[in-house]
Amino acid sequence: MKLTVVGGGSTYTPELVDGFARLRDTLPVEELVLVDPAPERLELVGGLARRIFAKQGHSGRIVTTCDLDAGVEGADAVLLQLRVGGQAAREQDETWPLECGCVGQETTGAGGLAKALRTVPVVLDIAERVRRTNPDAWIIDFTNPVGIVTRALLQEGHRAVGLCNVAIGLQRKFAALLGTAPADVHLDHVGLNHLTWETGVRVGGPEGENILPKLLTEHGAAIAADLRLPHALLDRLGVIPSYYLRYYYTHDEVVREMRTKPSRATEVAAMERQLLQMYGDPSLDEKPALLAKRGGAYYSEAAVDLAAALLGGGGSPYQVVNAYNRGTLPFLPDDAVIEVQAAVGPQGPSPLPVAEVDPLYAGLMASVTAYEDLALEAALRGGRDRVFRALLAHPLIGQHAYADTLTDQLIAHNREHLAWA
Ligand code: G6P
Ligand code: MN
Repeated sequence: MKLTVVGGGSTYTPELVDGFARLRDTLPVEELVLVDPAPERLELVGGLARRIFAKQGHSGRIVTTCDLDAGVEGADAVLLQLRVGGQAAREQDETWPLECGCVGQETTGAGGLAKALRTVPVVLDIAERVRRTNPDAWIIDFTNPVGIVTRALLQEGHRAVGLCNVAIGLQRKFAALLGTAPADVHLDHVGLNHLTWETGVRVGGPEGENILPKLLTEHGAAIAADLRLPHALLDRLGVIPSYYLRYYYTHDEVVREMRTKPSRATEVAAMERQLLQMYGDPSLDEKPALLAKRGGAYYSEAAVDLAAALLGGGGSPYQVVNAYNRGTLPFLPDDAVIEVQAAVGPQGPSPLPVAEVDPLYAGLMASVTAYEDLALEAALRGGRDRVFRALLAHPLIGQHAYADTLTDQLIAHNREHLAWA
């Protein structure tokens, strides 16, 4: 099996490689290709990747290349984990929205729109090249904003599935609190990428007993602290929102906090410099502990699971993925991309039925879906007015004067990445 990682020079790659090494029985990778435009990063990350494989006795070959077409040729699956403009562009996304009193975040709000506009054309170009050489290859998209990017890929007819580690992170967390194996914890996970709620936590599988009320009674305080949401709110809702709901339910508080602290991009950039330095040390042969300070915990496990299921080798029977709605959530259009549990096999994901969703959550999902729709229009077709429409539609923006200012800021800060601007 050949797997290609686009954005393979990312400091996250050792997490992925460590997962491939540990879980080689689930996903036997014979050749792992790391593709990246930055040769110096590839050398450092590729070197460590080879040492991780060697230490764990993995016989797979690791190839590094800056040539995308050569790298994807013959790949069974292509993982996309790229960041157009790097942490420097993210730093901008996290900063200028704050001037309007709006959250500055890499995937939520105006910053997320900027990221979508930079990213969608690049990802579609890559996917087209993959399809030219390997029409059957699966594309696994980690590239944010995952909902919008996955929808762009599906709309163009690509064999794509979007993936995020929020659900697997919560599954692992709940399993630890309950003292049970992660595979025994099934989440009733519903929403859009980075806009999800756990409406049930079941033992054993989709039909298992719902122990969410008990989990909240016994461990609500710990869970709330982890999500940085008020414990009382979780109790009132009776469901567990993802930590991205923090940007909605405590928006103004988050903005105040963001104004007084260095951006996450600044923190991450510092960590990346340190990580790359560590990767250059020939005696390092495992993923360093520092990597755990990044947000990507367990994403290698989610990726192995998904790739194994798509390529016909097993993996968990049900997985949380981003896929077309197609009636799963009747209050959203069929071609919306939703993040839910799905049965996954070589034909792709089939979402499991979802119980009726409380309007409290359905309403927000519907409005963010409309935003994502307009965001994709803006990403594909460009133009100031399309950017304005997407921002006006976003439930965290909504006012025309803010939408206008943010449109100008977005364009001014991203001109070099926007062909139309
Ligand atoms: C989580 C999210 C990812 C996001 C990451 C950011 O893993 O699911 O979509 O990219 O956090 O982590 P970072 O360390 O870059 O802030
Ligand atoms: Mn994510």
